[in-house]
Amino acid sequence: MASLALRALRKTYPNGTTAVHDISLQVADGEFVVLVGPSGCGKSTTLRMIAGLEEITSGQLLIGDEDVTDRPPAQRGLAMVFQSYALYPHMTVAQNMGFALKLAGLDTLAVRAKVEHAANVLQIGPLLARTPRELSGGQRQRVAIGRAIVREPGVFLFDEPLSNLDAALRGQMRLEMARLHQALGATIVYVTHDQVEAMTLGSRIAVFNGGRIEQVGAPLALYHRPATRFVAEFLGSPTMNFLPVRHDGHALLSSAAPDALLPWPAPAPAGELVLGLRPEHLPPAADGAEGTAQLTLQVEHREHLGDLVIAHGRLGDGRTPLTVKALAAQAGHLLPGARVRLRPDLQHAVLFDAQGRALPRPA
Ligand SMILES: Nc1ncnc2c1ncn2[C@@H]1O[C@H](COP(=O)(O)OP(=O)(O)O)[C@@H](O)[C@H]1O
Ligand SMILES: [Mg+2]
Repeated sequence: MASLALRALRKTYPNGTTAVHDISLQVADGEFVVLVGPSGCGKSTTLRMIAGLEEITSGQLLIGDEDVTDRPPAQRGLAMVFQSYALYPHMTVAQNMGFALKLAGLDTLAVRAKVEHAANVLQIGPLLARTPRELSGGQRQRVAIGRAIVREPGVFLFDEPLSNLDAALRGQMRLEMARLHQALGATIVYVTHDQVEAMTLGSRIAVFNGGRIEQVGAPLALYHRPATRFVAEFLGSPTMNFLPVRHDGHALLSSAAPDALLPWPAPAPAGELVLGLRPEHLPPAADGAEGTAQLTLQVEHREHLGDLVIAHGRLGDGRTPLTVKALAAQAGHLLPGARVRLRPDLQHAVLFDAQGRALPRPA
């Protein structure tokens, strides 16, 4: 296995589009790093530069201690798994998995041993004699991963490997990816636009926005301490609520919720700010709880998900939407038509400046 260092990597395509702007990222040996962001933000371009499939316009790429910036793909010691599997249709699973080894001149017995080992790890041993046509989508995906495993690369690169699968299978394969990482102890760089995959798989996540890395960190660190409004909004479902506010020196005042009480004992700049409140941090206010943070919600609609309730409504101004998430057993107050007092948990709130940068919290 190997570590990876991206140093100010830039990609400008021949048509003049700069898809990646000088990004730097360090991936430790054995780490599972997820590159996540909306479509078109430069994730695949970054992965393809690492793989050597796309020329690096400027910057430097290191695998282990070696500068591989100008090295051809085959000499970088990594393996890439694509969304589209790209299996050879006329070959069996075993032949597909062993093909690269055979090309490299390994003898038949050695190829077979490596293929069988990888097939065991992926639990596709019984499928080795089949052709891709005789496999389900999830099984094909496993063969594509197996083809990468047999090469024992220093680094695995995955580009949206699960996005062609249906939701149930995607959940199952997500678990398998995590298990695979544990079993192999492999260094993995994994690209997805799916925040759930990013949150559940990554030891660290790099959130991309417009060809730049917005923030890098452990999934829960990003969830609870987003550096920017973009990161806060991208992670979490339903998405974070945003309230326009101003700071009067002690508390936050909002034109969207004139009756709100939002103590904020921390310095904050004058002018328009935005308060971010996650839907799960809005429990009901207890009667007579004087002085605690409060917010009134006019509930309009509720979704019952069995264990959870998600309620949608509007704040005091009758316009600004707010979403609340609660355990079903604790959601009796969230009825359509009800006017409810909520107690926003400001310990978990994030205050953003006009540029969308997170401000320091109260101590
Ligand atoms: N071969 C190319 N030539 C020109 N522009 C490209 C090429 N490939 C991708 N792009 C552009 O680069 C940007 C990033 O693309 P990409 O890395 O594929 O994003 P992502 O994988 O995050 O969806 C997009 O604006 C895309 O249109
Ligand atoms: Mg892509």
